[in-house]
Amino acid sequence: MLARRDSLSSGLKLGARLTAGSVVEALLGREGHALAGSSAKGATAILGRNSLKAHASAQGLFVGAAVNLKLLRSEPNCACTLAEQHNMVVAESAMKWDHLRPAPDHFSFDEADELVVFAESHKMEIRGHNFVWHEELPAWFANTVTKENARKFLTDHIMTVGRRYKGKIHSWDVVNEAILPKDGRPDGLRKSPWFEVLGADYIEIAFRAARQADPHALLTYNDYGVEYDNEENDQRRALILQLMRRLKAANVPLDAVGIQSHSKAGSPYPIGKGLRDFMASAREMGLQIYLTELDVNEDDLPFNDVAQRDRAVADVYRDYLTTALSEPAVKAVVTWGISDRHTWLNNGPTHKRKQPNRPQRSLPFDDNYQPTDAFFAMGESFDARNTSGEG
Ligand code: XIL
Repeated sequence: MLARRDSLSSGLKLGARLTAGSVVEALLGREGHALAGSSAKGATAILGRNSLKAHASAQGLFVGAAVNLKLLRSEPNCACTLAEQHNMVVAESAMKWDHLRPAPDHFSFDEADELVVFAESHKMEIRGHNFVWHEELPAWFANTVTKENARKFLTDHIMTVGRRYKGKIHSWDVVNEAILPKDGRPDGLRKSPWFEVLGADYIEIAFRAARQADPHALLTYNDYGVEYDNEENDQRRALILQLMRRLKAANVPLDAVGIQSHSKAGSPYPIGKGLRDFMASAREMGLQIYLTELDVNEDDLPFNDVAQRDRAVADVYRDYLTTALSEPAVKAVVTWGISDRHTWLNNGPTHKRKQPNRPQRSLPFDDNYQPTDAFFAMGESFDARNTSGEG
């Protein structure tokens, strides 16, 4: 078994197309694999026509995942699962400023290029994430970018990165997480580093540069906190819609809204009318909708039993997707990661977690890249997609 895994791993070149055989072999070679004992018959339960991408494409949907480039290189299961299950991919961090810009005058494209090569060789769509965000800015940003040079830094960055991947990107998250009501502005804009140097105009500048850099990429505003029926999300939805209407009225090239979809098991709040109305408003503005960072935080669940937790997480996937996919403008579903082994939810400071010693099971594949209940909930939700407004 080990020899086979090693040969697969060393033989795996990111640009080389994985054959169906190599994917099956990798899936069967997994240690502790529930399906391994039952051989090829078991593996076919999640491959080919049973894969996430088969279920999704039958409904005209893309299904994707965020991936860490170091894992894509080093874990054969990561590359195999991505290639077998998804027809869209996004870099978890490789296209963020601090990864692309080690120094003000130097770009580092190695990881981002590898992602693009991998995606192209597996005929996957690529989401670009992101051009503007208040986090993961390089350390040099704070004492280098000023009110005087900020516009040039921003447009140069977008032109350089956008042009490099021109024609290869399905959609760019041009601006990420610009709304933060608690910063106290009537327009809800976050007082982000970009806001501090450019004012509210940074958003419009970024979208216009992105269109110029790559006229075919669909330009997306991406944000969180729009999923639940509660006051905080009501306020965030209203402010996001207000921002997008303002951009549209000013002829800013905005094509889509990304709903991050970081969800919660055991939430006291329902997912329903607020989300539906938000999506309908986005559609009426002519926007496409992508669910861009779906995962389920299960830190609040008051029981430890794995099977019980997996069922609770799958229920959230099912509920959320049933509501979200009832909206015809939704075109893509992207999970934030592939396997629980690497979910960002386990990386944060443990003092913020209710269950610091209980790794989260938030994604469709568990620690060993075995499908969880969430995997099947996703496939079933795609199959059941009903955009008639009757359920
Ligand atoms: C997260 C990554 O998953 C982490 O690895 C990284 O350290 C911090 O960023 N919203 C976003 C994503 O738009 O870019 C974030 O990704 C998760 C929240």
